[in-house]
Amino acid sequence: MQITSTATWKAPDSLQSRLQIQHFSPSEHSPIAVGQDVIKGLTQSPKVLPPQYFYDDRGSQLFEQICALPEYYPTRTEAWILHHYAPAIAQCTGVCELVELGSGSSTKTRLLLDAYQQQGYPLHYQPIDVSAGILTESAEQLLTDYPSLKVQGWVGTYEQALAKLPLATLSQRMLFFLGSSLGNFTPAACDQFMTQIATVLAPGDYFLLGIDLQKPKDILEPAYNDRQQVTAAFNLNMLSHLNWRFQGNFDLGLFAHQAIYNPVETQIEMYLHCHKDHQVSLKELDLSISFQAGESILTEISRKFDLAALQIQLESHGLKPIQTWTDPQQWFGLILCQA
Ligand code: AVI
Repeated sequence: MQITSTATWKAPDSLQSRLQIQHFSPSEHSPIAVGQDVIKGLTQSPKVLPPQYFYDDRGSQLFEQICALPEYYPTRTEAWILHHYAPAIAQCTGVCELVELGSGSSTKTRLLLDAYQQQGYPLHYQPIDVSAGILTESAEQLLTDYPSLKVQGWVGTYEQALAKLPLATLSQRMLFFLGSSLGNFTPAACDQFMTQIATVLAPGDYFLLGIDLQKPKDILEPAYNDRQQVTAAFNLNMLSHLNWRFQGNFDLGLFAHQAIYNPVETQIEMYLHCHKDHQVSLKELDLSISFQAGESILTEISRKFDLAALQIQLESHGLKPIQTWTDPQQWFGLILCQA
């Protein structure tokens, strides 16, 4: 992957000297190369779609709404842990450049920035997100609120960013991955991701990981089947995204959102359930697919972790857990590792 060095957005003069936003060039890839994962997923049985297609600008906004839902406990629980323990994290790591994978609105990041600021540390922040819109908006807001902050943002996927992350501008770096996004990876992808993280970090650097822990089904299922149906809109939006991205003709009215807990895999599984036989085409991918009434597309898994097992797995990848924090109900965990 190559990074283009062109800034995609110009901030007001007062902020410009502290902001850089760069992105991976989409022009190097034909739409077919970009959509190989869609072709593969929709031509296999049962059908699957990669969860990264949730996150166009509307999908990112819907996800922000999910985070504020009363049923969706992970965001507020992780925020509670950060609110209580961000100062301890800053004390553990000392001066660090902060690199966030999947930064979104960077709301929880503020708790870390506050803690590093209170310690008198310089604030260097590198947010990475697939949505240019949300990255730009949140960077502008952060720069206004933190006058000494420097932001170097990257528009792209985790894989692109981890392959091309420039050297740290401070002597140490803490890479962080919050919100239990690790739960959306298959076990194999999770192993590969940990290997990549360990490769990107220099010895002594830190990795802070937020993970959703195992808990009863009657708490989990409502979190993914909210009463306002924001999660349903988020799930269906993936089809709109594919329609504009690959000139598709998915009819959203022929699919319904489903989210169920699989106790064997300890994961939530999200599906788009089709209720009528029909054909869909994605012109840019030269793809035509048949759907049958009753079949489903798996759009996401959201794994719920066992803290002790995950610590062992991290350590086996060269990421040594040095401190762990949870909330009083032990619903969510934050693990600080050192490479
Ligand atoms: C981003 N990720 C951790 C969320 C989750 O809980 O797995 C995505 C999500 N899907 C539905 N609601 C939230």
